[in-house]
Amino acid sequence: MRSVAVIVLAAGLGTRMKSSVVKVLHPIVGRPMLLHTLGNIAGLKAEKTVVVLGHQADRVKAVLPVDVLTALQKEQLGTAHAASTGLKKLGGFTGTVVVVSGDTPLLGTDTFKRLVASHRKAGADATVLTAVLPDPTGYGRIIRAASGVASVADIERIVEHKDASPSERAVTEINAGTYCFEASALKAALKQVRSDNKQGEYYLTDVIAIIKRRGGKVGAVQAECPQDALGINSRVELAQAEKVLRRAVNRRLMESGVTMPDPESTYIGAGVSVGKDTVVYPGNFITGNSVIGQGCLLYPGNFISDSTVKDGAVIKGWSVLSESCVDEGAQVGPFAHVRPGSRVCRDARVGNFVELKKTLVGEGSKASHLSYLGDAIIGRDVNVGAGTITCNYDGYEKYLTVIEDGVFVGSDTQFVAPVRVGKGAVIAAGSTITSDVPKDSLAISRTPQANRPGWAKKRREEKSKGGK
Ligand code: UD1
Ligand code: CA
Repeated sequence: MRSVAVIVLAAGLGTRMKSSVVKVLHPIVGRPMLLHTLGNIAGLKAEKTVVVLGHQADRVKAVLPVDVLTALQKEQLGTAHAASTGLKKLGGFTGTVVVVSGDTPLLGTDTFKRLVASHRKAGADATVLTAVLPDPTGYGRIIRAASGVASVADIERIVEHKDASPSERAVTEINAGTYCFEASALKAALKQVRSDNKQGEYYLTDVIAIIKRRGGKVGAVQAECPQDALGINSRVELAQAEKVLRRAVNRRLMESGVTMPDPESTYIGAGVSVGKDTVVYPGNFITGNSVIGQGCLLYPGNFISDSTVKDGAVIKGWSVLSESCVDEGAQVGPFAHVRPGSRVCRDARVGNFVELKKTLVGEGSKASHLSYLGDAIIGRDVNVGAGTITCNYDGYEKYLTVIEDGVFVGSDTQFVAPVRVGKGAVIAAGSTITSDVPKDSLAISRTPQANRPGWAKKRREEKSKGGK
C-alpha cells in the first residue's frame, strides 16, 4: 500500500478569534485545538506529519509531539503557499498526501480513513472532503459538472465565497478544507497557482481545477456529519466544539465505569484519567494531567488541576487542588485549598477552610478546620487543631515547619518557622511557638490568665448609672 504523509496548515493567526493567542493553541477540553487534529489523524499511521507554522511558531512548536515535523511559512500568502511550504519539508515523498487545517478538531479518524480509502479506490489524483450546509456563507463552493446528479457529477473546481457569482453562491456543497492528493499531482499543480483573486492569496482550492485541466482525476467524499467537518473560526464555535468533545470525554469515562449523575455539568479534560466506581458529582472541573483513582467520591464543585487522587479518597465539595496528591482513603474539604507541592497521605483528613501549600500531611493525621499550613512536613497521626498557622514567611524568605509523628497541636497555635516539634509533643492551645520543642514535652507560650472577681458586674452597674 502507498504510504501516507500529512500536512497540517496552522500558520494563520485566526483573526476572528479576536485573541492575542494563535487560534490553534486555544484549548478544547483542556488540550490545544491543534493536538486534537493531530490525535485524530494519528489513525492514518502516516509516515511523516508536518505542521506548517507561522504566527507564534515557537509557542505552537512547544506543544507539539517530538515526532511531528514543522515547516515555517514566514508570510501567510495563502493556503496553497502553506501547502507547498509543507510539501517541501516532506522532501522527495511520493505517496498520498493528506492536507488538513489545524482548526478542525472535530474531524474524526473515521472520516480521514474514509477520505483516503475513497481516494485510493477511485485511483484519484485529488479527493476533496465536502459538506452540505443549509447556510454555506463564507465557505468555498464545490462546482460540479453541469450534467448528471449533483452529488455524483465530477468536481470541476472550487470557488471561494468572495470570488463566487450569485449562482455559485447558491451552491450548498462546500469545501471542508481537507484533501487527499497524490504527491506528484499536488506538487505539479501548486506551481501553477496564481494569486489573481479577490483576496490576492494563493488558494489551495485552485489546485483542483488545475489537476483537472492537466488530465488528472478528482473525487469527493461528503462528510457524514457536516458540523464536524467545519473549522473553528470564532469563540462561539470554540464553545460548541468544547461541548461536543466534553460529551465524548464523559461518555468514554462512563463507559469505563465512572458514575456521573449529570455529565452535562461535569467538566473533565481530555488528559485526565478516572478509575472505575468513582463518582463525579456535577460542577467538578478536572483538568491537566490529573489522575483520579478507583472508588473515589468527588462531591460537587471541586476544581482539580494536575493532581492525583488515589483510590478511595473523598474530595468533599468546593475544594481546589492543584499540582498535589491525595493518597488512598484520605479526605479533603469541603472548602479546602490544596496548593502546589502538597500531599495528603493515606487516611489523613484536611477539612474546611484549610489551606495547604508545599505541605505534607502524614498518614492518619488531621487538620480539620481553619488552618494555613505552608512549607510544612507533618508526620503520622498528628492532630492539628483549628486555627493553626505556620508563619512561614518573614517578608523575604520561606521557612520550614516540621511536626513529627504523634504530636498534638492545640487550637489557635502559630508556628514561627523555621521550627521543629519532636515526636509525641503537645502544644498548648493558643501558643506561639518560636523555638524547637523536644519530643514528648509540653510547649506552652501564652500570657498567664488573671481573673478579677466581680469586675464585670461592677462595670455593668456603673454603665447603668450613666457613668464612664
Ligand atoms: C479555507 C478554504 C475554503 C474552505 C474553508 C473550510 C482556501 C483558499 N479556502 O478557507 O474553501 O471552505 O477553508 O474551512 O483554502 N493557513 C496557513 N497559511 C496561510 C493561510 C492559511 O497556514 O497562508 C492555514 C490557517 O492557519 C488555517 C487553514 O490554513 O488553519 C485555513 O485557512 P483559513 O484562512 O482559515 O481559510 P478559510 O478562509 O477558512
Ligand atoms: Ca478556516
